[in-house]
Amino acid sequence: MSIRWRDAMEQALYGPDGFFVSGAGPADHFRTSVHASPAFAAALHRLIATVDAALDHPAPIAIVDVGAGRGELLRTLHASIAGATDASLAHRLRLTAVERAPRPADLPAEITWTNEIPAGITGLLLATEWLDNVPLDLAVTTPAGWRYLLVDPATGEETVGTPVSPEDADWLARWWSPPADSPGIRAEIGRTRDDAWADALGRLDRGLAVAVDYGHLRQSRPTAGTLTGYRNGRQVPPVPDGSCDVTAHLCVDSVAAAGAQVAQAPYTLVSQRTALRALGADGRRPPLERASTDPAGYLRALSAASAVAELIDPAGLGGHWWLLQPAGGPLDPLVAP
Ligand SMILES: C[S@@+](CC[C@H](N)C(=O)[O-])C[C@H]1O[C@@H](n2cnc3c(N)ncnc32)[C@H](O)[C@@H]1O
Repeated sequence: MSIRWRDAMEQALYGPDGFFVSGAGPADHFRTSVHASPAFAAALHRLIATVDAALDHPAPIAIVDVGAGRGELLRTLHASIAGATDASLAHRLRLTAVERAPRPADLPAEITWTNEIPAGITGLLLATEWLDNVPLDLAVTTPAGWRYLLVDPATGEETVGTPVSPEDADWLARWWSPPADSPGIRAEIGRTRDDAWADALGRLDRGLAVAVDYGHLRQSRPTAGTLTGYRNGRQVPPVPDGSCDVTAHLCVDSVAAAGAQVAQAPYTLVSQRTALRALGADGRRPPLERASTDPAGYLRALSAASAVAELIDPAGLGGHWWLLQPAGGPLDPLVAP
């Protein structure tokens, strides 16, 4: 039986045998910035220090990772902050993973694991490739206007369903309106992502929320959509039967607007390449002459540059968006205090 995509994704990803809640976790199936290089966590460590200073070193300071996978990012941050010279930060830090999957048995005891974003956060809320897995509905233009796309969860076969709700029609008109006479245009209705992000911002009292994800802007929405699947490191058709990830890019501008409405503050929206460079992850190779004057330093710099290269590649992870949204007061996150 065919159902709406939002319900199909919910079952496929988070149902009893859902792709994300059973099995080894996302890292076995695709590579995010978190898995690609420790340089990603190192840049976030620098961002945490900036936020900590901007908030005047609160005790405690929370780092909340929403959609934490199997806790990979928080494990790395925990190790790097514990080993850093700033003992005060390590002492005040509270790490929380928010995940629909169960707590991994080997997670360090210092990391709290919960399935709900805590309220009253002071610190940093992170969401790396979370929102693209928030289930959403799909629609298609027909001569009678926008209609939902339905999907058979067993086969992935699509059919056209009922007209979209007034709320979805309003969202489409604001964020995805196609030329009126263009039947067959697919849209991914990002309202559920906007709501999820607005809800997350509502739980941040003071600090910064950062979403890192792939996405697009209103002036360049893809007319064929972006829905796709991943399994075992390969891109596959998005059949919502629980055997693969099912994901669609974010409408980053609508997510940002929804967050700004809650936070009542200006946001920053830049590419990962720009954000990481601002955080000191440069990726540029050291000059070759250094190899003869300082061979050990040259090799260290070369290895640091190659660790960053994949993260800032504009055709790959470097093209992802960083949405940085302060709450409870001004905070310029990409500028060291
Ligand atoms: C693509 S993975 C990203 C994992 C990790 N953040 C990374 O970048 O490697 C998305 C994760 O978000 C989790 N997730 C989705 N919706 C969630 C929600 N409402 N609350 C908590 N976790 C959620 C999924 O279970 C999945 O583990």
